[in-house]
Amino acid sequence: MKIGYLQFKPSLKKPKENIEKVESIISNGKYDLIVLPELANSGYLFEDKKELLKVSENPDDGKFCNMLKKVSKNKKAYIVSGFCETAIEEEGRVFYNSAILVFPDGEFRIYRKTHLFYDEKKFFKPGNTGFWVYDINIKKLGLIKIGMMVCFDWYFPESARTLSLRGADIICHPSNLVMPYCQNAMFTRALENNVYTITANRIGKDKNGEKSLEFTGESVILSPRGEYLSRASKDKEEIVFVEINPLLSRNKRINESNDIFEDRRELFYFGKSRN
Ligand code: ACM
Repeated sequence: MKIGYLQFKPSLKKPKENIEKVESIISNGKYDLIVLPELANSGYLFEDKKELLKVSENPDDGKFCNMLKKVSKNKKAYIVSGFCETAIEEEGRVFYNSAILVFPDGEFRIYRKTHLFYDEKKFFKPGNTGFWVYDINIKKLGLIKIGMMVCFDWYFPESARTLSLRGADIICHPSNLVMPYCQNAMFTRALENNVYTITANRIGKDKNGEKSLEFTGESVILSPRGEYLSRASKDKEEIVFVEINPLLSRNKRINESNDIFEDRRELFYFGKSRN
């Protein structure tokens, strides 16, 4: 199965530009699954909620999500991307920092970022979807389970753990990383869960008024044994694919004596284990 990522610089508050750029790049090549960065339609560094109103969309009919559905259908490939989502709820209009998984038949699933980072708390509502896995159908392999988490979710081991306990074969991780740790930390997330991970990070700077933020690139793909199958540059746009066997995620046995999931002792993590 061929999996990969697109590392690029989304243009801040320019969804049309981002749609055209992403479409022109991911329409090339042959792949089964590609992951794009967090907030790939909008950029990251907002000053106020009014800005989000202009760049956010509803995944049912938004232009960015519709483009992903078109490419997915044409290429018979699955796409995961971060995007700026809007919804009308009881309290009125709200925004989520979301990821979409698009199926070639036009179906899609949404994950809303659970752990918001820094100023994101001013703009976005904390995600309410939780961590779930979804079946994608891959020729010669059958159903492969995909999980999603977004950027800062990595800091909370429970995110990747929950997805893995629910059977994820591949964790898709759209990101806009600003700290220098995640690319190294994903070694542990992959190893401790025996799971493939794809962290699709962005590059470049967002500038908005007085504010400026630089992103760290180095998108990574890890194998269940913690091998770096790919590590991108810090500052170049790259589209990268690797061939994997996702069924390797299902064997949690690391030697004759240890199965890292069967050996978990939940009683001593959450139970009343002390006298
Ligand atoms: C982040 O969660 N975008 C750092």
